[in-house]
Amino acid sequence: MALREILIIGHPMLVKKAEPVERVDADIVRLAGDMVETLHAAPGIGLAAPQVGVSKRLIVVDLSVGENKDDLIVLVNPTVLGKEGEVICEEGCLSVPDIREKVARPYRVTVSGLDLEGQTVEVDAEDLLTRVLCHEIDHLDGILFVEKLSPLKRKLIRKKLKKTAAAGKKA
Ligand code: NI
Repeated sequence: MALREILIIGHPMLVKKAEPVERVDADIVRLAGDMVETLHAAPGIGLAAPQVGVSKRLIVVDLSVGENKDDLIVLVNPTVLGKEGEVICEEGCLSVPDIREKVARPYRVTVSGLDLEGQTVEVDAEDLLTRVLCHEIDHLDGILFVEKLSPLKRKLIRKKLKKTAAAGKKA
């Protein structure tokens, strides 16, 4: 396995709709392994393939950041089957460094997809897990969480990101 570079806001891959995975083959299994390693190293709780430069519908989520194997969720071609409720809470993104903003997400969600054996799986999520799953599935549609904010907030964020880049900080 290998660490992959995480793309930062401004990269065209992050606003592109990702392609469905046609077959869960060795390449996809390797990509998923690399993404899990990259996620844990970041560290973060969710990562989508476009964030590492691959236009495929694949996400990895791990609320335990590598502490608990049972928490790791790898989903190929995830789709939301149903959602319920709403929670407004701060979230961030590995592709949008140092920015955390309040975003509305469902409270409960059911997501279906394929696992790395190509079997259909369903995940029933609540609260933070729902938030992360929705956030990662948005990435597959080329949507960053900052797109969900008001125009004024987005303007302030663009300013802050420009400043960070100008200061030569790693972003
Ligand atoms: Ni993200």
